[in-house]
Amino acid sequence: FSFRLDRVEFCPKRLSSSTLQFDLAEETKLPMFLHCRNSHQDFIAIMKKNRDRCVGGVVHSFDGTAEDATALIDLDLYIGINGCSLKTEANIEAMKSIPTERLMIETDAPWCGVKNTHAGSKHIKTTFPTKKKWEEGHCLKDRNEPCHIIQVLEVMAAAREEDPLELANTIYNNTIKVFFSSS
Ligand SMILES: *[C@@H]1O[C@H](CO)[C@@H](O)[C@H](O)[C@H]1NC(C)=O
Repeated sequence: FSFRLDRVEFCPKRLSSSTLQFDLAEETKLPMFLHCRNSHQDFIAIMKKNRDRCVGGVVHSFDGTAEDATALIDLDLYIGINGCSLKTEANIEAMKSIPTERLMIETDAPWCGVKNTHAGSKHIKTTFPTKKKWEEGHCLKDRNEPCHIIQVLEVMAAAREEDPLELANTIYNNTIKVFFSSS
């Protein structure tokens, strides 16, 4: 479920829907794909209260502090990293604090690409040919696309001073464990 304290123009704080989401999580025993924006303390409180109702899950598009990450890990959750998680040096420090066996990776395309202005962009090695108008074999200019996931990996691995392939394998294993194992 998505829990945020911004963009509330059309929907009040999404507290009530979280009850329904936990009902579903409990009934289906499926892992949760969680989103928290500008609301880490409320989010963590809700998760603490309901943690035994869900088998587990990932807090995706993480942009909290190292302390927020620790609180989520203490709840036995995983943390999903994309370009929005790597915007500032503080974001990168928080990402570095997360143990490798708790990480997941994502693009959140078409949003949250690693932009040139982002702190981690200097670590990008892989770029793709782009066009302003769509053309086969090219990415669309300024649009985050699924292939850009390697850029997220490159930033993470360089910042963490880890081998990208080893990191990718660990993250792959984490993902399989949460989303594709029956227990
Ligand atoms: C990932 O899991 C496989 C299968 O269990 C294992 O052989 C491999 O060593 C693991 N890789 C990492 C990097 O943890």
